[in-house]
Amino acid sequence: RDGLSTTLLGQSIVYRETIDSTNNLARELANNGAIEGTLVIADEQQQGRGRRGRDWFSPPQSGVWMSLILRPELPLAHAAQITLVTAIALARALTRLTGVQAGIKWPNDILFNQKKCCGILTEMHAEFDQIHHLVLGIGINVNIPQADFPADIEHIATSLQAVKGTPIARAKVVQTVLEELEPLYRQYVADGGFGTLREEWKAHNITLGNNIIAHTAQGTIEGRALDIDEFGVLLIELPDGAHKKIYSADIMFT
Ligand code: BTN
Repeated sequence: RDGLSTTLLGQSIVYRETIDSTNNLARELANNGAIEGTLVIADEQQQGRGRRGRDWFSPPQSGVWMSLILRPELPLAHAAQITLVTAIALARALTRLTGVQAGIKWPNDILFNQKKCCGILTEMHAEFDQIHHLVLGIGINVNIPQADFPADIEHIATSLQAVKGTPIARAKVVQTVLEELEPLYRQYVADGGFGTLREEWKAHNITLGNNIIAHTAQGTIEGRALDIDEFGVLLIELPDGAHKKIYSADIMFT
């Protein structure tokens, strides 16, 4: 906690040198009553997880692999919006840390020059239609030289070090992210959602206005990304001019 000025996030810190996935331990702790703001962080993940069942490359001492336990008293329907709120905090933090503008790719990737340097994996537990807890997993590639990425992701991944040209202390990255996230999280809880943060999300986004392909659980949709609504849902214009809402997807630019 040295140097950390937050009062909620990181109140309690659980550190492991190596772990399967910080999201797994955070879920276990959350189910056993860990307090809100508990931070689980590891130097290395053996089974780091990405969205849609993918692996997340998490080599030792070179990134920030962490998960936060949150307990917002909100309806389940608002849970997905925490990812967009977190993306704003990350875009602000990573821009400050590198001096280079970071962009948000809907819903949850932070990119520099079209290459991903950070992802968010939100997992939740609900009781009836209320959020019981959220596990907010954040993975940031910090000091990974561009050449050290595995061949299959080398062309789509980057790190803060590669962007900035010099290494950055991981503790400083954690501190900056938590300090940016805490006020935004409080606002999200107070407002009961993403509403008032929507304009700021848009200011950081690199998705809207572009032609995209969205891979959803229901299939692939091609069109132009028009807007996001107050729930963070993506609105697409199809080639025939019709509009369609996308709740969850992986998107690619065409
Ligand atoms: C994605 O973009 O697919 C999400 C990547 C999320 C990675 C982080 S690293 C810390 C936490 N623990 C995990 O196993 N995954 C998340």
